[in-house]
Amino acid sequence: MAEIRVMLASDIAAAQELWRNTEGMGLSRSDSAEGLNAFLEHNPGLSRVAMLDGRLVGTALCGHDGRRGMLYHVAVDAACRGQGLGRALVRSCLEALAAAGIGRCHLFVFNSNRGGLAFWQHEGWERRDDLTVFSCDTPAGLPPRSATGP
Ligand SMILES: CC(C)(COP(=O)(O)OP(=O)(O)OC[C@H]1O[C@@H](n2cnc3c(N)ncnc32)[C@H](O)[C@@H]1OP(=O)(O)O)[C@@H](O)C(=O)NCCC(=O)NCCS
Repeated sequence: MAEIRVMLASDIAAAQELWRNTEGMGLSRSDSAEGLNAFLEHNPGLSRVAMLDGRLVGTALCGHDGRRGMLYHVAVDAACRGQGLGRALVRSCLEALAAAGIGRCHLFVFNSNRGGLAFWQHEGWERRDDLTVFSCDTPAGLPPRSATGP
């Protein structure tokens, strides 16, 4: 029986390993151990992992800016899919956002990630064709966290 629990700094290495083996993941310098530690510290108690027999088999990075929530890197080990873990990870993150007073959550999906797009649509998320995402690196000298990924 899998367990959904808060993601800790000690989960980072196993999460990185899962993402390296997950199709559709856009990894960037924000996904270094340093970047992920900073993300977890900035958003305490919001990200989740799925554990099965002591092994990390799923992740959902979750944060907010005081107005809207964001989800990143929702991923389940290919051998453990279709058992409700993806849904449980997302639901637990949304509950944590609601408890923090956040009323709405966004996420990015690559247009090429057909499986990911189908999952979010199946789960009832609203696909936004009325928006375009713009991105920009911050000035040199500051740690670049988002070189290529969302
Ligand atoms: C997307 C992903 C997280 C789903 O994880 P999962 O644990 O298999 O999902 P669940 O078992 O919780 O599925 C929940 C529901 O979504 C449906 N679903 C899951 N994957 C789906 C897909 N690719 N297309 C359509 N529906 C899907 C399931 O059938 C289930 O619906 P049901 O209860 O009505 O049968 C997993 O396939 C994955 O890691 N994919 C690669 C990474 C990725 O693309 N992440 C999302 C983009 S950021």
